[in-house]
Amino acid sequence: MKLWRNALCSLFLIALALFLVACSSDSQTSTKEDKKDETDSATEEQDGTTDEATDEGEEKEQVTIVYARGVDTTPGTDMVIEAFEKKFPHIKIESREMPADTGQSHDQYVTAFSSQSTEIDVFNADVIWPAEFAQANYALELDRLIERDGIDMDAYFPGTVAAANFNGKQWAMPQYTDAGVFYYRTDIVEEPPTTWDELIEQANALKGQEGTEFGYILQAAQYEGLITNAIEFIASYGGQVIDEDNNVVVDSPETVKAIEKMAEVVGSDFVPGNILNFQEIDTENAFIEGKSVFARNWPYMQSSSNDEEKSKIAGKIAITTLPAGDAGNAAALGGWMTMINRYSEHPEEAWEFVKFISGEEGQKITAVNGGRAPTLKALYDDQEVKEASELFANPDFAAVLESAVSRPVTPIYPEVSDIMQIEISKVLAGDQSAQEAATNMQTKIEAAMNE
Ligand code: GLC
Repeated sequence: MKLWRNALCSLFLIALALFLVACSSDSQTSTKEDKKDETDSATEEQDGTTDEATDEGEEKEQVTIVYARGVDTTPGTDMVIEAFEKKFPHIKIESREMPADTGQSHDQYVTAFSSQSTEIDVFNADVIWPAEFAQANYALELDRLIERDGIDMDAYFPGTVAAANFNGKQWAMPQYTDAGVFYYRTDIVEEPPTTWDELIEQANALKGQEGTEFGYILQAAQYEGLITNAIEFIASYGGQVIDEDNNVVVDSPETVKAIEKMAEVVGSDFVPGNILNFQEIDTENAFIEGKSVFARNWPYMQSSSNDEEKSKIAGKIAITTLPAGDAGNAAALGGWMTMINRYSEHPEEAWEFVKFISGEEGQKITAVNGGRAPTLKALYDDQEVKEASELFANPDFAAVLESAVSRPVTPIYPEVSDIMQIEISKVLAGDQSAQEAATNMQTKIEAAMNE
């Protein structure tokens, strides 16, 4: 199914690319002929192109860069673009919205970048992509630019920098970080549950109160979000998928127990009947409509939940850590970085935008207006950031971020994820046991890694 989806996707993108080439009015005034090995030109062409708007005098060449990123249900992205364009009037950002499903975005990027398309200049990359994109040569190495412009990488959480580093090179700048968190309704819940069993108990008991229809909602559709939810269950029972020495260790009693617990939650009466189609956006919509007592999502949902214009539960939510299994509680590490297309015709302007969006000013805008957790440590001491979110003001949150569980770091991550998605989905649909899933994942992931 994936194959023909990919094929369809490729056809569509090729058609789109041809169409765009044909109608290009070319507002983008390229200065480079040779698009290969942009690193050198990007570093050489330094002076005079990165000055800010405040530098009056010489007229700068107008450049439009295309910035691709997933759906943002908050005003964060638009506001950061607006602030950038104001500061750098010679650079216009054309924002391109990619699918909300990270796996679908991934496939579209792979199609574009593997044909060396120049269409996208800057793009948001999920934390699970840099190893693969670096190896496939899709992105521009940033080390020389970072050094040239004196960017202090120690100002970022080390995990977010490490996630963008592959083969000793820095391929992306951390933009915001994600860790799975637990939302609950303060008008219904007295004490939030601390274990999965308590959650099951409370969700059963409280469902229906204050007009709610569901006790708990999570992401159980067959896509990448399922893996982040599964990793949280697995780690909370002490299981792992691949260990520090790169051994596949997913077939363990801990993982089996964790998947059984996940299946118990997903198979319960307190989740929506179509929970197997639920992604983040569905969770967000149901939660802000006041339909669920508890929800699992990323920090951004605090922004929409408390937005009086669209949320029925503004001011009635709180956030805490996800419930614990036998080994404690665990949050999956997510997050997004910004990368530059290796074949961008405007690497210098692209870098200017990347610096801004991943820098203090850009991250502050998305933290305050988009609920996105900064990757810059200092922003957690910023008064406006703290005031914008209880979560960011809470010193425990930084600890949650630092101890969040990563998904396996490997250039074949998409394959590993696909295997897990298929096997775990079968358990959630009642088509196989957790033990069967663990055994199959073990064999199939091992085979994929040995290819
Ligand atoms: C969030 C996370 C990302 C993850 C995705 C799964 O966007 O930041 O890392 O892969 O959710 O749906």
